[in-house]
Amino acid sequence: MGITDTVEWNASLYSQRHSFVWKSAEDLIALLDPAPGEQILDVGCGTGQLTAKLGESGAIITGLDSSKTMLEQARVAYPAGSWIHASLPDYIAHEQFDAIFSNAALHWIRPPEKAAARMFDALKPGGRLVAEFGGAGNTASVLKAAREIFGERGETVEVPWYFPGIGEYASVLEQAGFEVVYALLFDRMTPLDGGEAGLANWLEMFAPQWRASVLNRFEEKVRPTLYDEQSGQWRMDYRRLRIAARKRA
Ligand code: BEZ
Repeated sequence: MGITDTVEWNASLYSQRHSFVWKSAEDLIALLDPAPGEQILDVGCGTGQLTAKLGESGAIITGLDSSKTMLEQARVAYPAGSWIHASLPDYIAHEQFDAIFSNAALHWIRPPEKAAARMFDALKPGGRLVAEFGGAGNTASVLKAAREIFGERGETVEVPWYFPGIGEYASVLEQAGFEVVYALLFDRMTPLDGGEAGLANWLEMFAPQWRASVLNRFEEKVRPTLYDEQSGQWRMDYRRLRIAARKRA
């Protein structure tokens, strides 16, 4: 996950409090439709929960992630896997895969053009790519609050994530040589674990630079849209870009 070149993930915090990241994406595996014996690369495999699910199909799975601590947990979650410690833009494939799978990772990886080229190189002719990540409009409430809070202080906000629309990302893939066969941009309001601490946990994991000084301001600004009084739970206004593409045979 690109930003992890400079930020090492807290893998135990991630797997304990952010299980929604993989629980909501199991149907992405159905879109990939892995077959026994296929060689599959899981890009940005994180702590390996979906890698293990992919493995249940009988496919042979390799997980790639730029975080060592995440990979250590992934090894435990799926001992049968093979693992590559690399950031995708720097990854030179020494073998080619039948398919690439990626969940909740590509919005961290820049530049997207280089990431797409590396995935293309890593596929056999006829190989398929199925990916889901944050699309245009993702986490809009949090981004708006950040711009307002830091704007009031005369500071500009650097957004570390890449959230493209369908047209933009399809063209990134096409430029890399892929044929795009499916794309969907959809809202997924996602309950966060941790009750009243849900938003604080999310910021601590994914945007610690914002949480540190202004958590109260964030909570005040986004509470009307992201807090569900009835369940006492924070939600995140995720919007996913789900895309499937093929390397021509
Ligand atoms: C996401 O999965 O959409 C996401 C995760 C962390 C930060 C921003 C977006």
